[in-house]
Amino acid sequence: MDNNMPLIDGKSIDVLFSEQDIAKRNRIIATEIAAKKPQNLLVLPILKGSFIFAADLIRELHRAGVTSTVEFIAISSYGAGQESGEIRLLHDFDSDITGRDILLIDDILESGKTLKFVRDLLKTRGAGRIFIAALLDKAMRRQADIEADFVGFSCPDQFVVGYGMDAGHAFRQLPFVGVIHK
Ligand code: IMP
Ligand code: MG
Repeated sequence: MDNNMPLIDGKSIDVLFSEQDIAKRNRIIATEIAAKKPQNLLVLPILKGSFIFAADLIRELHRAGVTSTVEFIAISSYGAGQESGEIRLLHDFDSDITGRDILLIDDILESGKTLKFVRDLLKTRGAGRIFIAALLDKAMRRQADIEADFVGFSCPDQFVVGYGMDAGHAFRQLPFVGVIHK
């Protein structure tokens, strides 16, 4: 093990996407979203994993001239181990979204079950355009018919932590995305 690597909760984390890399991508994604000229935009992060990405992205959107309001939705998916399974809605919001443009934000698009569940729910509530931003895309894991409109990085097929994402509730606070060092 590299002795210079700091231990966090007794583990060392290999950096996959640095704080600087993420900040650059966020700025570009915000510009891409601004180009869609969203109207009466509602930003909707899916908790918990996307909270840091969403906090950074909404401020980049502000710099790109996009105003928005924010609601949160919390989802859990129960499956075997780290696989995504049955989707449950843990926290909902009650504002009227009829005709509104929505930016749905998640940390990782993997099987796609989570984002498809939420997108379908928003459609039944009469949302206008629904845009999806995912920090990471594990395209090789896709099961549902869904893609993100805006992606930070395509992600290798590894379990990642940091920048909001956890392993057993730990590591969300890391300012970068990394992989637990074996
Ligand atoms: P899916 O697209 O429904 O399969 O699930 C995506 C969700 O699973 C994400 O919102 C994450 O919360 C979680 N997830 C998937 N891969 C990882 C990972 O590598 N680290 C942490 N959470 C992950
Ligand atoms: Mg999640």
